[in-house]
Amino acid sequence: MKTHRFKNYEALSDFAAAEIAIAIKEKPSLVLCMASGHTPARTAELLVTKLQQNNIDYSRLQFFGLDEWVGLPPTNEGSCQYFFNTRLVKPLSLQASQCFFFDALSNNLPNECKKMDDAIAARGGIDIMLVGIGMNGHIGFNEPGTPTTITSHVAALDDITKEVGQKYFASPMPLDKGITIGLGHLLGAKKVFLLANGSKKASVIKQTVEGVITEKFPASIMQRHANGHVLIDEEAGALLTHRK
Ligand code: F6R
Repeated sequence: MKTHRFKNYEALSDFAAAEIAIAIKEKPSLVLCMASGHTPARTAELLVTKLQQNNIDYSRLQFFGLDEWVGLPPTNEGSCQYFFNTRLVKPLSLQASQCFFFDALSNNLPNECKKMDDAIAARGGIDIMLVGIGMNGHIGFNEPGTPTTITSHVAALDDITKEVGQKYFASPMPLDKGITIGLGHLLGAKKVFLLANGSKKASVIKQTVEGVITEKFPASIMQRHANGHVLIDEEAGALLTHRK
């Protein structure tokens, strides 16, 4: 794992977007798995700009949404898929055949997980995974205590996730379960970027980068990834002992 520090959110987002754009240029059928949420929002915007301005062919890109709130339709503005649809799918006119999202309204969620795992396996695994980090150290909806070998699964949401997750919704939203790609996929991904910005993420970044590796704090497994990259701005890196 390597830590990369940037002066601010814009620089961090620009780096992440450039890395992905270059990777798609080098491998047009890149398998990209991305989180939604506030952190990757600017990366998504900049990725669209870079792909379009540089005439990079993304017609064969294979795009996987990392997770979804169980029970929410893609039309809900706080849903993960709404984020992907508005920030990537529509601006890039990605085809349905190149996009993979959990149907969080399905009455057969285990089958949604199987379909996702099969689709990832059929494409030879994930090339690039771009994730954020929750205030409890979660990645996707891999909540504290999740085994590191797990693939796609339905998760009972941690109380912190239910509380912090309210920020995506205009009015109070009962959040109970999530469906998510697993930590096993993260460890198997060829390259992982974990992004964090702002002072509120400083303590979770310290635990991620300098804490013990434990299932109690899922993001700590980044330390086990040989091609794992933690991208942070000054504020998120403020508590790190080893400042580079
Ligand atoms: C969302 C997701 C979550 C977020 C995390 C950080 O798709 O996978 O794990 O990445 O909760 O959220 P933000 O970026 O809003 O702070």
